[in-house]
Amino acid sequence: MKARKPVVAGNWKMNGDIVANEHLFTALRAALGRPLLGRIDVVVCPPYPYLGQAAAWLGDTGIEWGAQDVAAVANGAFTGDVSAAMLADLGCRWSIVGHSERRQMAGESDEQVAAKISMCAAHGVGVIACIGETLDEREAGATEAVLGRQVDAIAAALAAAAQPLPPERVVLAYEPVWAIGTGRTASPEIAQAAHRFVRERLAACGYGAAAATRILYGGSVKAANAASLFAMHDVDGGLIGGASLVADDFLGICRAAAA
Ligand code: 13P
Repeated sequence: MKARKPVVAGNWKMNGDIVANEHLFTALRAALGRPLLGRIDVVVCPPYPYLGQAAAWLGDTGIEWGAQDVAAVANGAFTGDVSAAMLADLGCRWSIVGHSERRQMAGESDEQVAAKISMCAAHGVGVIACIGETLDEREAGATEAVLGRQVDAIAAALAAAAQPLPPERVVLAYEPVWAIGTGRTASPEIAQAAHRFVRERLAACGYGAAAATRILYGGSVKAANAASLFAMHDVDGGLIGGASLVADDFLGICRAAAA
């Protein structure tokens, strides 16, 4: 039994449709009973239009659901954005923030990630805050510099919140960009070294709950490699992309986390 309750979160990205989702929700409902959910937290993050469907299918199960992103501002003329208050209105208790796809494709900065965390904290929406280096950065020996900068911004936002998020609502996800969707999973040793660095950095920033913070690994996690990753001391579960779209694969990962 790990000191921290593992989390397995599915990031569906821009995938799914109302029928496929129903199949997935049905399978998760059937397989993830309360005893398993007593050992691990499971969060499913579909695209915005399906959050209501997630609420309807999962609301009474103990399986949690969340958004993939949230606005960095409270309200106003921000066409296409969705605020933390709106997520909270819907009963949505989690949002991914700072995913590398948003950092890279939408040019999201550490400052914007921090602002999103502040918005989530103000509305009691838990965060799954993503960090991770690119292949170029790793090969240039800059992994710790990049992770350090990203963690500093997250820790500062957490510390500045008027209503701090409880530690169980703060999850970090180390997702090396070179491992996302590539089939090139980080080795358990590489993941552990990064996770340990992140936890120590969080503590060095003065974040009091660093030891209790769940740090997930993401990047080509499959049922076959999940157990070896989750066995590492500072790896507290996974943020799963492709394998979260296939019920048996996702459930295999959940079982590995609960073992
Ligand atoms: P894959 O599991 O498809 O590599 O995606 C990881 C990810 O980006 C989850 O947020």
